[in-house]
Amino acid sequence: MIAPHSFRFFLNPRQGVPGVVVLPESGFRRAAAEIRSWPGYAPTPLLDLGDMAAAARVGAVHYKDEGGRFGLGSFKALGGAYAVSRLLVAELARSGAVPAADAAGLSRGDYAAWTRAITVTCATDGNHGRAVAWGASRFGARCVIFVHQSVSQGRRDAIAAYGAEIRVVPGHYDDAVREAAAVAAREGWFVVSDTSWPGYTELPRDVMQGYRLMAEEAMAGLPAVPTHVFVQGGVGGVAAAVSVQSRLRFGTAPRLVVVEPERAACLLASAEAGAPVTVEGDLDTIMAGLACGEPSLLAWQELERAAFAFMAVPDAVVPEVMKALARRDPPVVAGESAVAGLAGLLLAAADPGARAALGLDAASRVLVFGTEGATDPALYASLAGMAAD
Ligand SMILES: Cc1ncc(COP(=O)(O)O)c(C=O)c1O
Repeated sequence: MIAPHSFRFFLNPRQGVPGVVVLPESGFRRAAAEIRSWPGYAPTPLLDLGDMAAAARVGAVHYKDEGGRFGLGSFKALGGAYAVSRLLVAELARSGAVPAADAAGLSRGDYAAWTRAITVTCATDGNHGRAVAWGASRFGARCVIFVHQSVSQGRRDAIAAYGAEIRVVPGHYDDAVREAAAVAAREGWFVVSDTSWPGYTELPRDVMQGYRLMAEEAMAGLPAVPTHVFVQGGVGGVAAAVSVQSRLRFGTAPRLVVVEPERAACLLASAEAGAPVTVEGDLDTIMAGLACGEPSLLAWQELERAAFAFMAVPDAVVPEVMKALARRDPPVVAGESAVAGLAGLLLAAADPGARAALGLDAASRVLVFGTEGATDPALYASLAGMAAD
């Protein structure tokens, strides 16, 4: 199904070491209740990909397809928009404007006189900024989104469509993160970041609590406990959210494999170093959502002890997997960052050493996350060889 490609693979020696609780249950219950109450909420499909299971010589491959999430094209809608609502409710209370505001009131525009004076901001590779801009427009706040030069025009336009101002920053994603934080501090804006660092964890934690709903939907829909979960990593937020949910539902049985782009593998590098490290270079990868050089602190605290293995896969495998999914009947429309986990499975399953190290065999039941659809339709068409629609 796909050609052989070289990849990096690292078994985590710290897997199972006790650690801190990164995402408390109360926060997840609150996030899930709120997001489920939003208009248009519906669980996304969980697909049984028999052809992929056959290609990987495993028992089953379950693919959670996030392409239809709230019309935004990716799971990120669950995190950024939820964190915007949490921020606005907290800020209305802190300022004394509305001591007991709630998300329903925000959606109705009850507090518009106050929220329109609040500016939310973040850096993005595309999807997180779209989620924050969507949240800001739904809940009545002003929004400024920072993108680095290589974020495609299609992705910038999708963010601007929600009324956000776009600012372009030289460098890559991590430079945009720093610029958003610096401008926000100067202007009195609020950073709603999907990545966390020492002293800035509250909103990224809300973002990750929102992501857990994707994992919960998928795990609730599985016919049996999975033996393996492959999930892609940018800053690690979604992988950590999946990890927490997997442990909650299934204990330590499923083996979690975190898959990153070869040129932006900061989680793998951190696992090798035994501490969070920054990957240098231009982080140039077609997996735009995964082009991150610095792990999120919260994500790292979860993954350093919970991930079974880390992988880094080359860009060349991405169009092959996108095409294979697009040619299915019915087709699965998966964007560049969506296929990384599945690509990791296919590569590891075909490699005798990685297959044995992971314990992949004909009885394995694997869960993967298709984290986006065609979030940039022009790019999708050029890589998948056919239009998304
Ligand atoms: C489609 C997609 N998948 C996966 C990720 C990775 O998420 P995280 O940065 O939380 O690791 C992103 C991040 O933007 C994304 O857009």
